[in-house]
Amino acid sequence: MSAPIAGGITRVGVVGGGQMGVGIAEVAARAGCEVTLVEISAAAADQARDRISTSLDRGVRRGKLDASAAAATRSRIAVVDELAALADRQLVVEAVVEQKQAKIDVIQRLAELVENPDAILASNTSSIPIVELGAAVGGRAANVLGLHFFNPVPVLSLVEIIPSLLTSDAVTERARAFVVDVLGKDPITAPDRAGFTVNALLIPYLLSAIRMLEQGLASAKDIDDGMVKGCAHPMGPLALSDLIGLDTVLGVAETLYAEQREQLFAPPALLQRLVAAGRLGRNVGMGLYDYA
Ligand code: CAA
Repeated sequence: MSAPIAGGITRVGVVGGGQMGVGIAEVAARAGCEVTLVEISAAAADQARDRISTSLDRGVRRGKLDASAAAATRSRIAVVDELAALADRQLVVEAVVEQKQAKIDVIQRLAELVENPDAILASNTSSIPIVELGAAVGGRAANVLGLHFFNPVPVLSLVEIIPSLLTSDAVTERARAFVVDVLGKDPITAPDRAGFTVNALLIPYLLSAIRMLEQGLASAKDIDDGMVKGCAHPMGPLALSDLIGLDTVLGVAETLYAEQREQLFAPPALLQRLVAAGRLGRNVGMGLYDYA
């Protein structure tokens, strides 16, 4: 029998098999948890499995884990297309599309079906107020909090922990113990306001870069080179927007703008048009840049 995992959490659920959900599943499984990842259909579940394999293979190639650890990690992740499979979970992280109603629907269904009354229901939302997710599940609001990971999840160590006005201190501390002692990540406590800490700072920067491009003031290459070569950022703001996903950048900007009404959060038309055109970023092979 394996040793108990700190915080008592060994059975983890993840809802959504996009790049964030898959990354969260991977780091939890690498830490020894038994993970169930739920996607919306059998086809989407297949894609999520492929994403997990791609990331683990990359980790092996980069010398971050050996082939047997990658195989063990893969074997600890079950990818299914039925939310009911999460009934026995001790912690579930939702990582579905960045739309408030979609996240509320998922959290409400989790509150109905997850049996353990102490189970933590977490959201990986980038910007939606956690209190609104908590308020949507009535009696279980004390168990709802934000656990916001950063992309690529296996690489970046930060997790924002966002308790809402309704989250209990005990739940926050259990979640923190899981993030630190199990996942080995570095948390910060972030305020429950749109964008939390990081996106409240990052998104205006990304939008400024898109606006600079839109206004023809500089080329995409010069904007990105400027920040990489002049400020030692690992990638420029336009490439980073494509990595995050332009639909996510737009969704976060809209939430920030709705709450703050400050011009610096207003989504530029270029961003809106690219999303409308399906140019969603690196994931689909085209965004601000072409990746074909
Ligand atoms: N598993 C483990 N480690 C991996 C890995 C994997 N699957 N893939 C890569 N790595 C490691 C590599 O081994 C390497 O580590 P070392 O430097 O120790 O060797 C490191 O990650 C970098 O990998 P690469 O050299 O392959 O790639 P790169 O140098 O081109 O970096 C990048 C790629 C990690 C994406 C880097 O450009 C980066 O950090 N960019 C910024 C990303 C960022 O800002 N993310 C935050 C987005 S905001 C967000 O997510 C929140 C939101 O709500 C919008």
